[in-house]
Amino acid sequence: MLDLFPLTEEQREIERVARDFAAAEIVPYSRQWDRDSYFEIALVKKLGDLGFLGMLTAEEYDGLGLDTVTYLVALEEIAAADASVAVMMSVHNSLPTQMLATFGSEEQKQRFLKPMARGELLGAFALSEPEAGSDAAALTTQAVRDGDDWILNGTKSWVTSGPYAGVILVQARTDTSADRKGARGIGAFIVTPDLAGFSVGKKEDKMGLRASPTVQIVLDGVRVPAANLLGDPSMGYVYAMRSLNAGRLGIAAQAVGIARAAFDAAVAYAAERRQFGQPIRDFQGIQFKLSNMATRISAARALLHAAARAKDANASSAKQAASMAKLFASETAMWVTTEAVQVFGGYGYVKDYPVEKLFRDAKITEIYEGTSEIQRIVIARELYA
Ligand code: CAA
Repeated sequence: MLDLFPLTEEQREIERVARDFAAAEIVPYSRQWDRDSYFEIALVKKLGDLGFLGMLTAEEYDGLGLDTVTYLVALEEIAAADASVAVMMSVHNSLPTQMLATFGSEEQKQRFLKPMARGELLGAFALSEPEAGSDAAALTTQAVRDGDDWILNGTKSWVTSGPYAGVILVQARTDTSADRKGARGIGAFIVTPDLAGFSVGKKEDKMGLRASPTVQIVLDGVRVPAANLLGDPSMGYVYAMRSLNAGRLGIAAQAVGIARAAFDAAVAYAAERRQFGQPIRDFQGIQFKLSNMATRISAARALLHAAARAKDANASSAKQAASMAKLFASETAMWVTTEAVQVFGGYGYVKDYPVEKLFRDAKITEIYEGTSEIQRIVIARELYA
């Protein structure tokens, strides 16, 4: 497929490593994991050994210290094999890791960032709540200072990898009911599952990404040491939003990987499937579909890699570019997987072929880490700025 920004030799090598790993460790099991809603915990260690859980983390903190495009190239390969594994890798690398790397103290980096980069601690992110989704700053989980600790009470929802996470970046209110400060009254806390009062709540029964556990986290008087507060107690929401820009690039890479897998399956099927005396790929109607799919995937990847470069260059356009990449790639994934099911016809609707799963997996990319509607709001705000 057309690659508008050819990769460097190092990026091609990382791509090969990711593809070989996925072919050996993920592809043979992916459909069964989906059927069983099974999370393969062994993958955390294996991805850690490859360095894939610290791709953006500096080498002094046991990461690979790579640029964002290289990270996204690897993530696309993992996503093309299994979107559930990809979301674990994306959330870990993007949200808790970025928050710690950018806003954490030296002591926090030594304690958490290093083992996270090695794959010894899996990271999760807890911003959303049952009544605070798109309007994330409306969260109500409360943190109250008590001596050298903070006491946290509340329920977090949609926590990716929640049951297996060793470290969770939790956003909680630090303002008081008498003096609410909105988005500027929230702190970010490093919560570990060993703390008394921490429990994993309801596990969601999802349409797709069934091999990635998504749970509620219940915080019932959890006593978090003050040393686990990230930076300024009123800035946790802003830290989370800034880290979401990297997160949105990860989800866009996941979406490109899903779309590419659906496209590859459709191309192969169109060559082998015969109707009316010829392979269906010889029909212009199928050619038009495949051409449109290829064009949109190439455009999505080009926008994604341009947005990644903007992020690494600290460009003022980086926030808007991340939202554009996430918006365009996720809508591409949904569109391409829908077309792929159509190319397969009835066989696209059953679990014997891969596109049924890819279609289900694609949908969430338009929803999490900011819905397509939220991405349009972020883009519009920058247009008016
Ligand atoms: N990048 C950098 N800073 C950002 C930002 C971004 N993308 N979005 C907001 N901010 C900053 C703002 O600049 C502001 O800081 P200042 O006061 O210094 O200017 C601060 O954050 C507050 O922002 P707003 O006043 O704009 O806040 P708002 O309440 O109006 O919300 C919003 C804006 C765009 C709607 C935002 O709430 C949003 O993005 N909502 C979507 C929530 C979301 O993406 N949730 C993801 C859940 S995590 C998940 O899905 C992970 C998973 O497991 C897969």
